[in-house]
Amino acid sequence: MSAKVFSALWSEIEAIGRVSSGGYMRYALEQPELVLRDWFRNQAHRRDMPVTDDGNGNLFAWWGDQWGRDAVLTGSHFDSVPHGGGYDGPLGIVSAFLAIDQLRAAGYTPAKPIAVVAFVEEEGGRFGLPCLGSRLLTGAIEPARAAALTDRDGVTFGEALGATPAGPLPGLTSRIGALVELHIEQGRQLEAPVGVASAIWPHGRWRFDFTGHGDHAGTTRMADRRDPMLTFAYTVLAANKEARLAGAHATMARVEVEPNATNAIPSLVRGWLDARAADTPTMDAVVDAVVKRATERAGRDGTEVVVTAESISEEVTFDTALAGRLSAMLGDAPILPTSAGHDAGVLSAKVPTAMLFVRNPTGISHSPAEFAEPGDCASGVDALATVLRELT
Ligand code: GLV
Ligand code: MN
Ligand code: MN
Repeated sequence: MSAKVFSALWSEIEAIGRVSSGGYMRYALEQPELVLRDWFRNQAHRRDMPVTDDGNGNLFAWWGDQWGRDAVLTGSHFDSVPHGGGYDGPLGIVSAFLAIDQLRAAGYTPAKPIAVVAFVEEEGGRFGLPCLGSRLLTGAIEPARAAALTDRDGVTFGEALGATPAGPLPGLTSRIGALVELHIEQGRQLEAPVGVASAIWPHGRWRFDFTGHGDHAGTTRMADRRDPMLTFAYTVLAANKEARLAGAHATMARVEVEPNATNAIPSLVRGWLDARAADTPTMDAVVDAVVKRATERAGRDGTEVVVTAESISEEVTFDTALAGRLSAMLGDAPILPTSAGHDAGVLSAKVPTAMLFVRNPTGISHSPAEFAEPGDCASGVDALATVLRELT
């Protein structure tokens, strides 16, 4: 496929949800993402691909029998982190439609159904729990729990969806034969235009509620304060140190403060820890060490800390034989792990799953600076078409 053909379809969605930072505000089931979902339906319609909804907010565009046996799914997600890049997610969906165009132009007819999928709420940017759509589809979360998750304005996922989610797809393992998710690479490791995923680091999100005593910033003597901001600040540094010592990754990047006033000692600071490591014992050890140090520090500050695990994504090893087969088929494409989360990781617990990565020249992601060259994206489409042909 030429870079020009890729860019022509890509340009249709490039401006949707882009804000003045240059990044994207594409929260699941909110305005710009709803426009992208309409774009998805239009693309499917143009290609005579009927669209179904699984009752969980995930969309499927079908080439072949809807939910016939052994369907091969390919796609990704439209939602972004706040001010995120435009490639994380949508590249997999645009590439899926283009790969189908390429197969059809070559006169190919698949022996198994193919569906382009758009998973809902992959980033957890709106409702806090990543891969919500794929967790619902596979039964990894109770529909009632998903329905009750709230966004920052108090709107529940159930309200945004307009219903209680349907939950796991009946007969999932016989209906879905495989999933291939194409994604922009998000590390700094892929030097070839296209690579194949081997594994996903285990990762999770923990909410730390630090409570203290709200008071006047001007009149409260330093010795009398119970300031949760101090405990929070110490915990941020402790997370960084523990992760460095363990060769893991830990980040505290989201924070809420009450009352969030310049001249008031806060009564509450709520911060989220994102922790990841190459294996689960290492990740658990980092989190345990951070919690221990936060608790000790709270004792010294006269504050309290309560920690809640909001989501855990288990370590994923993709189907090794499948990854090897795809790599060979793509001219010995590099096989590499990632420390970013993906819906493919959730699906891999139930069905054979693979991921293709498209080179990211800077490695930057979850940032407006995320970028892939159109020529590499076109190579990604070619690779995906080859893989879909092989699997169907
Ligand atoms: C999603 O992209 C994540 O890795 O958090
Ligand atoms: Mn992401
Ligand atoms: Mn993604």
